[in-house]
Amino acid sequence: MLEEVNNLVKKVNTFTPVSQEEINNFKIEYLGKKGLLNGFFSAFRGVPNDQKKEIGAAINNLKSLVQDKIKKYKDCFETESVNTDIDLTRPVTLSKLGSRHPVSIIRNEIVDVFSRIGFGFSEGPEIEDDWHNFSALNLPKEHPARDMQDTFFVQTDPDVLLRTHTSSVQVRHMQNNLPPIRTLSPGRVYRNEAVSARAHCIFHQVEGLYIDQNVSFADLKQCLLYFAKEMFGEKTKIRLRPSYFPFTEPSAEVDVSCNICKGKGCGVCKKTGYLEILGCGMVDPAVLENCGIDSNKYTGYAFGMGIERIAMLKYGVDDLRLFFENDVRFLKQFSSL
Ligand code: PHE
Repeated sequence: MLEEVNNLVKKVNTFTPVSQEEINNFKIEYLGKKGLLNGFFSAFRGVPNDQKKEIGAAINNLKSLVQDKIKKYKDCFETESVNTDIDLTRPVTLSKLGSRHPVSIIRNEIVDVFSRIGFGFSEGPEIEDDWHNFSALNLPKEHPARDMQDTFFVQTDPDVLLRTHTSSVQVRHMQNNLPPIRTLSPGRVYRNEAVSARAHCIFHQVEGLYIDQNVSFADLKQCLLYFAKEMFGEKTKIRLRPSYFPFTEPSAEVDVSCNICKGKGCGVCKKTGYLEILGCGMVDPAVLENCGIDSNKYTGYAFGMGIERIAMLKYGVDDLRLFFENDVRFLKQFSSL
């Protein structure tokens, strides 16, 4: 045992760590619970009495050598990590920040505007089944209005599709929540359309749904006027035109006064002074029933808008494709937002 201890003394004396990690390992090897020194101390009990003095001194010596070594190098690495060359008075170089995508900026803004009047937030899957995207919304199979939304089907299964609107999220929300319901469903939607400056096969929507007792068309109108003013400015006017959606009755399309020519008529609004921004209406009682809501007790309104379209109007962007190309020269312009 004495020889073993002496060999370790030599080893410890020549040990020169080069990193904090080496010292840590060294410490564990010698001083750890199951380390070498504890091993010697427990074996020490079996040492014959006449050798106890010599061996005991040798073990204690080894222990203090180990401790000194650790202390010496621990301090050494600690002081080394403090770099005294740093000039704390030097001005910082700002690291370049990315920018939020304009679609995200507008989506957040829309969610914000509606959250101020009590709307919550709901999300759902982009790959949907026929029922949630169509049938529950009063669009049974073979209904001609399905053609309004050219659909991408997933492989050959006609029941699985890429959602064509986030109304499917509203269906899911109605199934899982009791009225009063006030929810906003933003998300990506897909339609099999030729890509052009005004249309894309992928785009983003925000749809809103409000269901309670005695919800009226006047409530819808007021809510949309509030939205238009918050989004496009206090002087903005809205105009409702009768329209048709299978899931709302009555239905309307909503225009806002053109904020480029201030309603006088220009190229963007095609001299009409108004720009279409969304579709809306009173939720068809059959849709409420499909989703398990008593249509004798509750009424509600719904609306849906394309985020890119709102972004185009707000930022004066004339080509929808720019939102999908991710050209940094385009995206950079939104960096302070
Ligand atoms: N889901 C419709 C669409 O995608 C928009 C809409 C939503 C219309 C709610 C009326 C009510 O075109």
